[in-house]
Amino acid sequence: MYVPDNVVTNQQLTQYMDTNDAWIQERTGIQQRHYAHRTGETTTTMAVQAATIAIERAGITPQDIDFIVFATLSPDYYFPGCGVLLQRALHMKEIGALDVRNQCSGFIYALSVADQFIRSGMYKNILVVGSEKHSFGLDFSTRGRNVSVIFGDGAGAVVLQPTTEPNRGILSTHLHSDGENAEILAMYNPGTHANHWTNQPLADFDDADIGQMFMSHQMIDHAQNFPFMDGPSVFKKAVVKFPEVILEALQANHYQPSDLSMLIPHQANLRISQYVQQKLALRDDQVFNNIQRYGNTTAASVPIALCEAWQQGLIPEGGLVCLAAFGSGFTWASALLKW
Ligand SMILES: CC(C)(COP(=O)(O)OP(=O)(O)OC[C@H]1O[C@@H](n2cnc3c(N)ncnc32)[C@H](O)[C@@H]1OP(=O)(O)O)[C@@H](O)C(=O)NCCC(=O)NCCS
Repeated sequence: MYVPDNVVTNQQLTQYMDTNDAWIQERTGIQQRHYAHRTGETTTTMAVQAATIAIERAGITPQDIDFIVFATLSPDYYFPGCGVLLQRALHMKEIGALDVRNQCSGFIYALSVADQFIRSGMYKNILVVGSEKHSFGLDFSTRGRNVSVIFGDGAGAVVLQPTTEPNRGILSTHLHSDGENAEILAMYNPGTHANHWTNQPLADFDDADIGQMFMSHQMIDHAQNFPFMDGPSVFKKAVVKFPEVILEALQANHYQPSDLSMLIPHQANLRISQYVQQKLALRDDQVFNNIQRYGNTTAASVPIALCEAWQQGLIPEGGLVCLAAFGSGFTWASALLKW
C-alpha cells in the first residue's frame, strides 16, 4: 500500500467549508485522510509505489509481471487508462493492461478478472492495483461537503499467482450490479450523456451547433463538474447488499460468518461496517476498519485495508478472509480467500 504523506484532518477542512470534526466522526468515523501532492503525484505514481512493494514481496521483478488489472475512478487521463502508464513507469514487458471502472467495488472486480486468468492458466503473475487521487477534483466548498469530507487518496496492490495447494488462495468471487440507481452516486461530467437518462438536466451545454457537449463553460460555472451523491440512499442500499454478498461467498464455500478470520469491507463508512458486523454477528476482531485514518479511498480501500491487516499480523496463515465492497453503479462484490 501507499498513501501520500500529506495528512488532512477534519479540523483542517473547516477552513474551506462549513463542517466540523464531530459531524464527520459521528456520521462516518473518519478522523483524517491523505491527499496527494497537487502536482508530481498522480493516481498512477501512487500505484507505482504500492505495486513496487507488492512485486518485491512476491519475490519477483516488474519484468515477470504478465498482466495488469488497474482499478480506478480517478485516472490520470480520460484516456488512455492508468494500466499503460503503470506498464511504462515500471518498465514492464509489452504485456496486456486492463483498466477497470467499477468504483468502490473496482478492486474486487479486478481481482476476479485476474483470478479467471490464473485459473485458466493464461497468466502466472498478475499485478492487480486499486489507486485513487480523489483530492484532484472534489468540491471543497460547503456545497460539496457531504462528498468531499468522505474521500481520501491512496493506492494498494497485490500480485496474484497460481498455487498447487488445494483449497488455498481465492476460493470464489461474486460480482453484481444494478444500474437502476446509477445517477445517485456519480460524476456526470465530462461525459456523453447529453441529459439523455434523466428527466432533470444534469448539465448545461453551450449553445453551439456542433461539439461542446462534453465539457462546457456553463458546466464549470454551475459546478456541474463534481461528483454527486445521495448519501442516505447509498447507505440504505449498502447495508442490504454488503451482508448479502458476504453470505453468498460464505455459502458458496460451505462456511458460516463465525468461520471468518477476517472480514475486510470496503471502507465506505464506519457506520456501514458496524451495521454489517452486527448483522452477521461478527466479533470486533473479525472485522478490519481503518477508515478513521484514510477516509474512503474507493478502489484502493480494500487492498490498503488488506495490507494493513496483514502487516498487523491479523490474518493468520490458512485463515479465512472475506473481501467485500459496494459502491457507485450500483455494483457490489465479494471474494473469499484462504490466506
Ligand atoms: C454521506 C453521509 C455521511 C451523510 O450522513 P446523513 O446522516 O445521511 O446526512 P444527510 O445527508 O441526511 O445530511 C444531514 C445534514 O447534514 C448536513 N451535512 C452534510 N454534509 C455535512 C458535513 N460534511 N458537515 C456538516 N454537515 C453536513 C446536510 O446538509 C444535512 O443538513 P440539513 O439537515 O440541514 O439539510 C451518509 O449518508 C453516508 O455515509 N452515506 C453513504 C455514503 C457512502 O458510503 N458513499 C460511498 C459509497 S461506496
